[in-house]
Amino acid sequence: MYADRVLSGMRPTGSLHLGHYHGVLKNWLQLQHEYECLFFVADWHALTTHYDDPLSIEDNTRQMVIDWLAAGVDPSKATLFIQSQVIEHAELHLLLSMMTPLGWLERVPTYKDQQEKLSDRDLSTYGFLGYPLLQAADILIYRANKVPVGEDQVPHIEFAREIARRFNHLYGKEPGYEDKAQAAIKKLGSKKAKLYEELRTRYQEQGDDGALDSARALLAETQNLSLGDMERLYGYLEGGGKMILTEPEALLTPSARMPGLDGQKMSKSYNNTIALREDPQMVSKKIRTMPTDPARIRRTDPGDPDKCPVWQLHQVYSGEEQKQWVRQGCTTAGIGCIECKQPVIDAVLQELAPIQERARALTEDPDTVRNIIADGCEKARDLARETMRDVREAMGLSQL
Ligand code: TRP
Ligand code: SF4
Repeated sequence: MYADRVLSGMRPTGSLHLGHYHGVLKNWLQLQHEYECLFFVADWHALTTHYDDPLSIEDNTRQMVIDWLAAGVDPSKATLFIQSQVIEHAELHLLLSMMTPLGWLERVPTYKDQQEKLSDRDLSTYGFLGYPLLQAADILIYRANKVPVGEDQVPHIEFAREIARRFNHLYGKEPGYEDKAQAAIKKLGSKKAKLYEELRTRYQEQGDDGALDSARALLAETQNLSLGDMERLYGYLEGGGKMILTEPEALLTPSARMPGLDGQKMSKSYNNTIALREDPQMVSKKIRTMPTDPARIRRTDPGDPDKCPVWQLHQVYSGEEQKQWVRQGCTTAGIGCIECKQPVIDAVLQELAPIQERARALTEDPDTVRNIIADGCEKARDLARETMRDVREAMGLSQL
């Protein structure tokens, strides 16, 4: 139960583009082979900013799942679900809100940033302030320890860690905790028990993180302990009580900055995207009309690839030899810009063809998509319910 578990969510922004593919989805495709993965559509998070536009959220959710599947996210490997279909997230959000200091929320840097950035909307709402807490609930309810996100989301993962720590500190203490922990250590057997004690001391007295890792590894390979004892011993390592919620860590996406058509980061708000389901004609047109080195006015003017957004796309799509051809041809005016763009057009079309083929098939088969989502939601709900049982009990809400 304490094995690595990956969880990530995406707000339903509609059809995805190559920026999402290179920046996020390719990473997910990799992770789904390496870890237990849960990927979900954060539709409630979309409502925190777009509460006045609920209908588009519904359609965007569906289109986004189609894009995930088309890109190769495999529902037999990863669990795909929709946040609002697992209402336990809302219960955990509510319960966590009881112990979340207002100041923590107000200090999350994205709070003020986003309010300023999205100044056309009124974001002085309760829901928007709670955005990171809802995200914390998303993560903690699955006891996910690895959360693949971009740089911008790191403060949210930090926040989730602090919430988990505070929760365990407040609610992880049970009567007779110390004695129970000692009894659980005995159950490890004398050799392991001694090692556990040593590692715990080394961590607590010298702050040796390696010792903490080793002790956790030792517990992870222990099989004869009950769930309760296991939680106690994980918690006891750090001196607290039971570890009811797991502290997650950000799994930084290797920053594949996908350049857009204008050389800025590809983003819908810059209007410089190529959608995964962009019509091939349109793909060609968009790349053909891309700006190039502004100093290269005539075909006979030499250019500088470093001042050209097309060159950035070559970095993504071309091998060494082809890049050499570009650099040489551009700086000597040996090739024209149209000629230079053609291999990029070909590469993008080739990349998109199988994705578009799968997207077409899925669009024509709504039942399959519906079933995949229903299955995923059910699996997610089962996991979420397990955690909620422990949370309710710890907070004095178990049914009599
Ligand atoms: N806030 C994230 C984003 O904007 C989306 C998100 C919601 C998320 N809940 C999450 C990401 C939980 C990771 C884990 O991208
Ligand atoms: Fe850009 Fe290629 Fe034209 Fe050089 S030849 S300016 S790299 S498009």
